[in-house]
Amino acid sequence: MCGIIGYAGKKDAVAMIVDGLKKLEYRGYDSAGVAVVGGGGFGVVKQKGRLAALEARLKSFPLAGRVGIGHTRWATHGEPSDVNSHPHVGSGNRVAVVHNGIIENYRRLKSYLEQKGVRFASQTDSEVVAQLCEYYYSGDIIDTVIRVANRLEGSYALGVMCLDEPDTLVAVKKDNPLIVGLSEHGNFIASDVPAILRYTNRVCYLGDKELAVIRQDGVRFFSFDREPLQKPPETVAWSPDSAEKTGYPHFMLKEIMEQPRVLRDTIRSARTGANQSVIDNLDVSRYHKIVITACGSAYNAGVVAKYVFEALCRLPVETELASEFRYKDPILDKKTLVLLISQSGETADTIAALREAKAKGAQTLAIVNVVGSTIAKEARYCLFTAAGPEIAVATTKAFSAQLVLLYLLAVRFASRRKTLTEEEERALLASVAALPEKAAELLEATGTIQKYASACVGYKSIFFIGRNIDYAIALEGSLKLKEISYIHSEAYAGGELKHGTISLIEEDTLVVVLASCERLYGKIMSNAQQVISRGAKVLLIGNSRNGANGDEKLTQILLPACHELFSPSLSAVVLQLFAYYVAANKGLDIDKPRNLAKSVTVE
Ligand code: F6R
Repeated sequence: MCGIIGYAGKKDAVAMIVDGLKKLEYRGYDSAGVAVVGGGGFGVVKQKGRLAALEARLKSFPLAGRVGIGHTRWATHGEPSDVNSHPHVGSGNRVAVVHNGIIENYRRLKSYLEQKGVRFASQTDSEVVAQLCEYYYSGDIIDTVIRVANRLEGSYALGVMCLDEPDTLVAVKKDNPLIVGLSEHGNFIASDVPAILRYTNRVCYLGDKELAVIRQDGVRFFSFDREPLQKPPETVAWSPDSAEKTGYPHFMLKEIMEQPRVLRDTIRSARTGANQSVIDNLDVSRYHKIVITACGSAYNAGVVAKYVFEALCRLPVETELASEFRYKDPILDKKTLVLLISQSGETADTIAALREAKAKGAQTLAIVNVVGSTIAKEARYCLFTAAGPEIAVATTKAFSAQLVLLYLLAVRFASRRKTLTEEEERALLASVAALPEKAAELLEATGTIQKYASACVGYKSIFFIGRNIDYAIALEGSLKLKEISYIHSEAYAGGELKHGTISLIEEDTLVVVLASCERLYGKIMSNAQQVISRGAKVLLIGNSRNGANGDEKLTQILLPACHELFSPSLSAVVLQLFAYYVAANKGLDIDKPRNLAKSVTVE
């Protein structure tokens, strides 16, 4: 949470910082700010609200400078306000800081400094870093930052500027992401790659308790003992366009539309390079149990995977919310494979679950989208989804990419465990390979969903039901809808409705019914009839041609035929479009839903 960016180079920093903040806004959007070194002091402009408010303020109070830092905030300590916005400048106006993370001992540090006469301007934990840097400044900003970092407890990614060393930007991190970007005209720091992709694709990933000293003519890396570190740059394969809207009204719609390509690339990745070698080399005979842990939509992908793995591999699979995992003393041993799923690779709870699993001796395998992220680095094995940068807060293409990698992993495991015949394996792989085309077919005909969704803006509550794997994808449909449309929604297993929830069904309640499990079609349709007879309207999403029975209370979106276990990939596309168009018809800020941030790096 919170996005930071910095630049030291030959060009004006401000335009690039603001442009980078636009790409980072998904990490937080309560307030934003920029600081540059110039004219014998810091120029600082900070503004509560969205980035557009900062841009407007910069028109009235323009800044210019060749070394600068910027920040977009998701408030943790102190309300969203101008004064609590970053960058924070020490009371002596010598040091400016941007921070992502939480300084857990900030109260102690603050009162220590207050006793020494330092006056604080904000209620944030972050200001303590700027004040401490000024307090300890020894004439060497590198030594100062190391000394300060050694006093901090909690998590941080920091960009620090000092007026006495105006050409230098210092960056340091612990448990929050930070990358360094290298370009001909200057060098960058950023919370992630999309922020600087327009300017460079050569990046170095900063490790915990490593320090980067950024100047126009180069970047040096140090350990906290001031030992120089060698960090050869890596080339990011993402194109600059992948972090732009390219004509779409929202990143979310662009990312939904990209899914056929993402599915194709991710399927291909499982047959080549690093992904293939992980899939081929995992010794599945060692495991007697799989535990899948993740948060939010990634967790929902894990719930889908539980059905697929259990059906194909006949191996018990548990799913655990990563935020609960470490507090329940999970039963793990070296025969347990813990599978962690994360788009960002930086979700604090998933990182903690990974560390817990490793501490307990379990084998760890992560499915991650962001190369160089903490989870990718720390998991024993890692598979990468080929989704490219995902900018919209609500995940779509990364979720779909996770699903296909999970299917392919399950088929591979099953084949190794000999729970499938060769013929069955071939048929399953062919079904997965057909998914991109089928997703494209759905995306070519969005008119019905768009029209249906436009009539749904007035609902106070929408229910999603399904059975078996349809229930798993109902969870994702419900989450997607509520997070971007602000309509209350819940997902239930179809058979569970009559145990309580059916009392909420009244005239014209909308129930979205997922029905791609052929075996259970009759059962879920009975549940649909039960709600229709109590006045509900039903949106049926499934692949049976017998669904539309002429009932005026029932509308069907017909899915292409598909293997039951992989049908969530097609239902997901419709559910994403449904949520998107409901929110679009409500005129909401779809890419940045209120209170949310994409990369949840705090507990
Ligand atoms: C919902 C959504 C979130 C994320 C969750 C985990 O649309 O995007 O629920 O799935 O915060 O994030 P990652 O996958 O980055 O660990």
